[in-house]
Amino acid sequence: MSIKKLMEGVYWVGVVDWALRHFHGFELSTHRGSTYNAYLIVDQKVVLVDTVWSPFQNQLIDNISQIIDPARIDLIVANHAEVDHSGGLPAVVRHAPKAQVIVSPKGAESIEGHYHQPWNFKVVRTGDRLNIGSSDLMFIEAPMLHWPDSMFTYLTGKNILMPNDAFGQHYATGFRYNDEVDQEELYQEALKYYANILTPFSKLVSKKIDEVLAMNLPIDIIAPSHGVIWRKEPLQIVRKYQEWAAQIPEKSAVILYDTMWEGTRRMAEAIGYGLADEGIPYKIFHMAVTDRNDVITEIFKTKAVIIGSPTLNNGLLPTITPILEDLKGLKFQNKIGAAFGTYGWSGESVKLIEEHFGRCRIPVVAQGVLAKWQPKEPDLEACKNLGRTVAAAVREG
Ligand code: FEO
Repeated sequence: MSIKKLMEGVYWVGVVDWALRHFHGFELSTHRGSTYNAYLIVDQKVVLVDTVWSPFQNQLIDNISQIIDPARIDLIVANHAEVDHSGGLPAVVRHAPKAQVIVSPKGAESIEGHYHQPWNFKVVRTGDRLNIGSSDLMFIEAPMLHWPDSMFTYLTGKNILMPNDAFGQHYATGFRYNDEVDQEELYQEALKYYANILTPFSKLVSKKIDEVLAMNLPIDIIAPSHGVIWRKEPLQIVRKYQEWAAQIPEKSAVILYDTMWEGTRRMAEAIGYGLADEGIPYKIFHMAVTDRNDVITEIFKTKAVIIGSPTLNNGLLPTITPILEDLKGLKFQNKIGAAFGTYGWSGESVKLIEEHFGRCRIPVVAQGVLAKWQPKEPDLEACKNLGRTVAAAVREG
């Protein structure tokens, strides 16, 4: 049984992908799998809102076929072009060649760019409505939540908001609703999703939420395109997004490092002792053996980001570089930083990390510690002091 009736005439026809462990190619880890949610609305007109990732397109067609002949589909809403949602479009259009494909103005560009097909497109803008019988579809453009083409679809009468990626989670489960799953797991995945995907667009997230709330639409269900559907207190995830979008960090620190012969590790731990002396909680991550996306989620939550690397070939250890790219690209707000590392012959690592903090607009609040060869007691004491200085800045901030 892979379909679910949500209410009269509205069905979940998506796919649960239990095996997914990497998403966006290998850019994002998905420890708990994911779902690709598609919604079928059967009224005077038959509407499919979003599809599924291409490898599952036959399952989508089978799901729809359990309810109606897919040839009866009149409208296909493509809220967003990424292939985890649009991948089933070619199969659906093959079954329903006359169906209109509803897209946002930017979606016209991105869907065409992915499939190069002369489908029967209809471009809609915020506030446009399409009557489908007893209800209307209403559209809200949501650029940068999380692509320029992203769009929300609202079903009047049924009071369902289908916001595509927004409010989603990469979370495979046998259940479809938020009140049926482990709340801690659910919020871990919702936060990881926000931190890794939506952080740089936080100002737009706040504005879009304000805009949607000001429309005073009754919302009984928020049905995103990944993970569970928010049925119980659906606005709880909207309030969480408002909170996350404000990016007010916890008074804590994250220390991340890589090491060749344990010297930089010992420095990381000494910095931790300094933070602990001042009562600031911290976590240490060895980047060579830790999932990058999990660390991003920890960085999202915390105030201080302290980064360490030995110098290798006049630069950093390559395992540190990806998280530095994320630190810049995700445009974290309200952070402070500090750097440390060992060296043997030349010692550029601390300077390079501090320069990178500058590019990330993260102020460096403590003088970096650079230790030659294995750190000696004075080096470790300097690390402890760095921890204490960062702790003071965390407390002030
Ligand atoms: Fe779930 Fe932006 O795709």
